Amino acid sequence: MILIDGKKAAAELRAELKEEVAELKSKHNKVPGLTVILIGDLTPSQIYVRNKEKSANEVGLKSEVIKYPDSVEEKTVLEKIQELNSDETVSGILVQLPLPKHIDKQKVIEAIDPSKDVDGFHPMNVGNLSSGYESSIPCTPLGCYLLIKKIEPNLSGKKAVVVGRSNLNGKPMTQLLLKENCTVIITHSKTKDLKAECLGADIIVAAVGIPELVRGDWVKKDAIVIDVGINKTDKGIVGDVHFDEVSKNAKALTPVPGGVGPMTIACLLKNTIDCFKRSQI
Ligand code: GUN
Repeated sequence: MILIDGKKAAAELRAELKEEVAELKSKHNKVPGLTVILIGDLTPSQIYVRNKEKSANEVGLKSEVIKYPDSVEEKTVLEKIQELNSDETVSGILVQLPLPKHIDKQKVIEAIDPSKDVDGFHPMNVGNLSSGYESSIPCTPLGCYLLIKKIEPNLSGKKAVVVGRSNLNGKPMTQLLLKENCTVIITHSKTKDLKAECLGADIIVAAVGIPELVRGDWVKKDAIVIDVGINKTDKGIVGDVHFDEVSKNAKALTPVPGGVGPMTIACLLKNTIDCFKRSQI
């Protein structure tokens, strides 16, 4: 079984991006800039944002974090986004989710200039991705996709099962696999026989938020299994895949942690650089 090392793949991607930033700097005499807006004091969000800032600095991006208290008015956030939209030194804008209840998530997402939307959440980018046009691609599915391609460069005709239909993961993952000519099945909580669907899959991406849902006897011998889950349980953090069981069956599997997670942040940096490059044309 191949244990897919997301930490190593992310470090390799960051090294490539660092070189690219240095080249862009010498060509344009400026570097791509990422601005993250963090609202409130949720610990996981603070940890993510700190990691994003650290990684952005490591590859040489200009990085800025704007913090607001939980009580901030929606209007203040929307006005800040407008300001960042017209700031030429800002290539990418990310508003860390989740947001406090009094702030309308969709309004915030739609306020971001689609050309600076490093999350790929703006309807314009969602539409472009589903139509097969150039777009920002949500970071987690992009990271999963790059890990899958490392194991199997030619995905044409493969059967992929995506477990979970979220806008963040399941739906964009489906689009990426479809673009590679996979036959894709999207499954979810109402799917009748999830085990049978998974058993037919060459590739399984589990992004549903149910601890250890995908079991060893759900997986074909030569399947590639990507685990997007991060679930807090009594025995610590586990994924959506039963690691011990599935590792005995699958051809390749991502661990949790150390699989998809590190790739997500590296892909955010990639998206920031890609937004910068498109803005220079
Ligand atoms: N919170 C957890 N994951 C994400 C993400 O990918 N983007 C944003 N903006 N917030 C998140």
